Amino acid sequence: MQHGSGKIIPEGFLWGGAVTSFQTEGAWNEGGKGPSIVDARPVKEGSSDWKTAVDFYHRYKEDIALFKEMGFNAYRTSISWARIFPDGEGEANEEGLQFYDHLFDEMLANGIQPVITLYHFDLPLALAEKYNGFSSRKTVDSFEKYARTVFKRYQHKVKYWLTFNEQNLVLTNPEFWGVSLEGAESEEALRYQTAHNVFIAHAKAVKALHEIVPGGKMAGMVTYTTIYPHTTNPRDVLAAMKAKELLCDFFFDVFAFGEYPSYVKSDLAKKGIMPVMEEGDAGLLKENTADYLSISYYQSQTASAEKAEQLTANPCLQTNEWGWAIDPVGLRICLKDMYARYRLPIFITENGIGLREQLNENGTVEDDARIDYLREHIQQMKLAMEEGVDVFGYLTWGSTDLISSGGSFEKRYGFIYVNRGESDLRDLKRYKKKSFDWYKQVIASNGEKLDLQPAVSSQQK
Ligand code: BG6
Repeated sequence: MQHGSGKIIPEGFLWGGAVTSFQTEGAWNEGGKGPSIVDARPVKEGSSDWKTAVDFYHRYKEDIALFKEMGFNAYRTSISWARIFPDGEGEANEEGLQFYDHLFDEMLANGIQPVITLYHFDLPLALAEKYNGFSSRKTVDSFEKYARTVFKRYQHKVKYWLTFNEQNLVLTNPEFWGVSLEGAESEEALRYQTAHNVFIAHAKAVKALHEIVPGGKMAGMVTYTTIYPHTTNPRDVLAAMKAKELLCDFFFDVFAFGEYPSYVKSDLAKKGIMPVMEEGDAGLLKENTADYLSISYYQSQTASAEKAEQLTANPCLQTNEWGWAIDPVGLRICLKDMYARYRLPIFITENGIGLREQLNENGTVEDDARIDYLREHIQQMKLAMEEGVDVFGYLTWGSTDLISSGGSFEKRYGFIYVNRGESDLRDLKRYKKKSFDWYKQVIASNGEKLDLQPAVSSQQK
């Protein structure tokens, strides 16, 4: 025991890793899969495409055996909508459904609960082309059909679901929901209309899950950036509060309380861009709140009144190579704040650090920086739990390496090194990094042993 008197992390806590279909599976045109907006994305010079990824589609048994060896009891991935409905609508593709049957069976046979995201930025391309993605209620209807199809099919295999990955990005990145702003009368109005449609799709999926899967649990998920005032000037403090309202609270408020918060409503009314709401929308949101809240947490930023539109770096913190501030205490602040506002169980479904890594002559990677990052975040999670926050699971981002969201393979996240480069696929062989054994020990001790050699922790803050 490193702090307090009893064990902080309860038995049955969920430990594991998290990925998406498109960043791991590959097999982009196999098994009857249709193209998604990810497949159509231009590949940046010196980056990877998503065609093969880490070939999880063909190698999942090998990977799951490694996850079992680490002691995972949970693994988050997403279903590729375009594997199930190649055109986003119409008839379901049996081969696609079977792939996830086999995958979930393999996880369960190895004591690993599938935690499944319905939508992780990979809309079937046809829905983007036909309806401009989630800017249209037609896409919402197709999403509901897709959700109902997979709930029925996997009702005995999957308990924990997430509707949309990082739903709060819909305002800043509507293209992840297949929406082009080109030609819009008001870009801001279209962003909020899309956000509203996605809220409705979320609520419809919550309703469907509860109808189809007794005991099924649905999350609303946000990528949580803890935001500090850049100075102690009250105007900066207010700017930080307002940035948090728009980036995080708005979404959690709707997930948890089932209605738009007054600070958003008044702002939209003032600007004259209240989204079109159909009859029944308000009731649907109110009656279908989330069962738990989920976050991805990587970093924190600061806000100032002077640059209200732009978050800035925190001079007190170090960053990784990609400029993401390393801030474990920010995770504790986030957890305490969320629990105080919502009193709902929290599932951390992404946390991790991207690092440039190479296999050494011993066939491993000495990824001490990853171990330090994860250890400190788990410690801060434990401190938040000690203070009463109800966290029931912790998943790292990545398990094997995978393609980063921007298309780079050199920004690695896994405990398991995958031997490939950006465009050179090499042999895709798997190698255990140093963090593999470390995480194994963390899970085996249910979060008690966080040091590699279980000695005194110097990380207590
Ligand atoms: C999250 C996304 O925002 O961050 C993932 O859910 C993504 O899809 C992860 O890969 C890490 O970000 P990046 O850009 O380093 O891949």
